[in-house]
Amino acid sequence: MERNAGTMPHSMMEMSVAEIEEDAKRILSLEVWKKCIGAAESGATFRRNQDALSKILFKQRILHGITSLHTSIELFGQQVSTPLLVAPLGSFWMVGPSAEHDVVEGASLGGTIAFVTHAGRSSVEEYTKGTHAPLIWMSNLTDGEEETYRLARVAEKLGYVAVGLTVDSVEPSKVGDHIPLDSSGAPRKGFSATPKNIERLKKEVNLPIVVKGIMGVSDALAAVNAGADALIVSNHGGRKLDYSLSAIEVLPEIVSAVGGKTDILIDSGFRRGTDALKALAMGAKAILIGRPVFWGVAVGGPSGVARVIELMTEELKRTMMFTGVKDVRAVDRNILIFD
Ligand SMILES: Cc1cc2nc3c(=O)[nH]c(=O)nc-3n(C[C@H](O)[C@H](O)[C@H](O)COP(=O)(O)O)c2cc1C
Repeated sequence: MERNAGTMPHSMMEMSVAEIEEDAKRILSLEVWKKCIGAAESGATFRRNQDALSKILFKQRILHGITSLHTSIELFGQQVSTPLLVAPLGSFWMVGPSAEHDVVEGASLGGTIAFVTHAGRSSVEEYTKGTHAPLIWMSNLTDGEEETYRLARVAEKLGYVAVGLTVDSVEPSKVGDHIPLDSSGAPRKGFSATPKNIERLKKEVNLPIVVKGIMGVSDALAAVNAGADALIVSNHGGRKLDYSLSAIEVLPEIVSAVGGKTDILIDSGFRRGTDALKALAMGAKAILIGRPVFWGVAVGGPSGVARVIELMTEELKRTMMFTGVKDVRAVDRNILIFD
C-alpha cells in the first residue's frame, strides 16, 4: 500500500539505513518498489557500485588526540553541515502527493542541499515553496533545449544556487527489462546532450553549472572545457548503462584529469558513512544520496529524509575518528587500502 509521507516514527531513530530500507519496502507497493529501486537490465552496474566500494578498506589510526571533527563544506557559495547531499529523483512523487516537498524540507532539516529535477511532478516554482533548503535545478533536456534554458533562467530568479544538466539520458533506459513511462504517463524520450548545451546554459544564467552522469575522462574534459563548474561522477545508480564500471572506480581518473579545475561530486551506491569517506579520500567534494532518501521519505516524511542524512553523517564522523581524519576537506588516499 502507498501512503503519504508522514512524520518520522519514533522507532526510526533506532534504525540503520538498511532497516529503513526494509520498512520502506513493507510500506510501498511492489510496483513502486520495482520501478524506483530497480536498476537497468541485468543489474550488473547496480551491484558493481556497492561491490567496488566494499573492496576499499581503511587503515585504523586512533592515537591522534582529535577531539572535534569538521564535516561542513562550502559548495556553490553555500555552507552546508555535511558533504552528503540529496540526489535528484524524478520518482519521489510515487511515494505520495507531498513527497517531493517533503524531500526538500528534509534536506533543509538535515542541513544539506537538495538537487531537484524537471523530471518530477513539481514545477521549478513549486519546489521552492515554504523551504529554506539550498536547491539545485537539474534538467535532462527531454523537454526541449529552449524550454531547458528558460527553466534555468526561472530557477536563477527563484534563488536556486546552481543549475545543471543530467547528460546520461541519451536513450530511455530499462528498469529491469522494461522501459517505464515518464512522470506524466507518457513514453520516455532520450536526448543526446552535447558540450554546446553546456556552453549555452553557461551563457543563459549567472549560476554555477553542474553536469551529472560523467563516467570517463573524455566526457569530463568535454564538460569542463564547455564551462561546467562541477561534475557529478554517476552511473545514475546503475539505471543507465548495464555492465558499466562503478562510479567509485572511475573517480580517480576523473579527479586527476580535471580535479583542480572543477568540483567533483559523486553518487551511485553510497549507503554508509564509510562509503562517503572513501569517496572524499579519493578526491570527491561531496556525495549525492539517491535511494536511501527515497526510503527515508517513505518511512518518515521530511524527518525521515533528515534522519537518513544525519545517520550517514554520524557514520562518517565515527569513521573519521577511527582513521584520524579531522576535516572532510583535508583527507587523502593515505587512509585507504585497495584490496
Ligand atoms: C527512481 C529513481 C529516479 C531517478 N530520477 C533521476 C532524475 O530524474 N534525474 C537525475 O539526474 N537522476 C535521477 N536518478 C539518479 C539519482 O539522481 C542518482 O544518480 C542515483 O540514485 C544515485 O544512486 P543511489 O540510488 O545508489 O544512491 C534517479 C534514480 C532513481 C533510483
